[in-house]
Amino acid sequence: MKVLVVGAGGREHAILWKLAQSPQQPKLYCAPGNPGTEPLAASVGVGAEEVAALADFAEREGIDLTVIGPEAPLLAGIVDHFEERGLRVFGPRRAAALIEGSKAFAKSVMERRGVPTAAYRDFTDAEAARAYVRETGAPIVIKADGLAAGKGVIVAMTLQEAESALDMIMRENAFGDAGHKVVVEEFLTGQEATVMAFVCGTDIRLMVPAQDHKPAYDGDQGPNTGGMGTYSPVPVVTPELLDEVERTIIRPVVEGLAADGTPYRGVLYTGLMLTEQGPKVIEFNARFGDPETQVVLPRLESDLLEIFNSVVDGTLAEQEISWSEQAAVCVVLAAGGYPASYRKGDVIDGLDSTHAQSVIFHAGTKQTEAGIVTNGGRVLGVTGFGSDLRAAKQQAYEAVARVSFEGMHYRRDIADKALK
Ligand code: AMP
Ligand code: GLY
Repeated sequence: MKVLVVGAGGREHAILWKLAQSPQQPKLYCAPGNPGTEPLAASVGVGAEEVAALADFAEREGIDLTVIGPEAPLLAGIVDHFEERGLRVFGPRRAAALIEGSKAFAKSVMERRGVPTAAYRDFTDAEAARAYVRETGAPIVIKADGLAAGKGVIVAMTLQEAESALDMIMRENAFGDAGHKVVVEEFLTGQEATVMAFVCGTDIRLMVPAQDHKPAYDGDQGPNTGGMGTYSPVPVVTPELLDEVERTIIRPVVEGLAADGTPYRGVLYTGLMLTEQGPKVIEFNARFGDPETQVVLPRLESDLLEIFNSVVDGTLAEQEISWSEQAAVCVVLAAGGYPASYRKGDVIDGLDSTHAQSVIFHAGTKQTEAGIVTNGGRVLGVTGFGSDLRAAKQQAYEAVARVSFEGMHYRRDIADKALK
């Protein structure tokens, strides 16, 4: 079986790493891929958003299954396009991917199904948004409606921050069309957790939970990032809580999408705030999380390829899926300056130092004559494994200590919330 994975980040590296363990021994391709995916999958010189060119490649090469990693091609309609051309593809169609692509759409699905989420209002008029924010007061959360590469959310602790966020999004168009509409949301407090699920219509199979660390620096200080590290399992997400999340959040949303004629197929990512009133939705994504995938897939004992195929073929309900008890901790190594403008092109040392209890997933790297160099904000994700979180954390940081590049920075407290 020939399988193409679309994307070039740590998430795609982790998906390919898992697919490479499939007993079906698929022949793997990655478009465009990175130096970490190269040994596992033939790199295809086509960008992740070149929808038609990717379908041409899949047709020409006789690809049996294409798996979409990032959100941009999903929202560009890559799944619709592949299906129209009779190509098998894993991911939601555009209309269902809007659960990530439009926060206002996600809110309306949740509202109609009574799914717990932060109270909100959406606005296209900047004056009306400003008046509402003044009336409600801070802290308050301002979100650009559309895709903004994880940067469209401002948690404003003061009214002044909230008003300048509105100005930036609505007047200065900092996120382009994504900020044409804003969602103004109630500020929630609690621990965050990510629950991803394989979904096919109304069949749902939850993955093990993970917890991301969004702020750039230790102790949740500093600006928000795409995610600085993850761990799994998450002790605060008990089996009972997971059942509640499925029953009160994931099932009603998935059933709502199906009833509206836009059934969901693929991975549904639910970002939760575990509040005193119970779990509430912060966001949905239409894909695997990054860097959640780097701790969740290593715990999967079943054949990922079989699971992907069962979603595409509509047999997910009968699919056997088992998870290991072992723990995983992923530490993201970021480029100097990230999440603001960051350095590129620094040589990375220590990538080939082998270490049995860990794996290095490449995210923003590039092969050059000088060796593998940094080429993105989040450069590497180093995942450590162990019998429990403490052991996994130790393995992760031992592996991190072997890697270095100019300006490298990372959090030293990944998983500490669970270890206290
Ligand atoms: P998002 O891009 O929607 O995941 O938001 C980025 C981060 O902003 C989240 O991981 C949270 O830490 C924070 N956030 C988003 N919505 C809220 C909210 N309603 N209350 C408090 N924090 C939030
Ligand atoms: N780690 C957050 C995301 O994948 O959106």
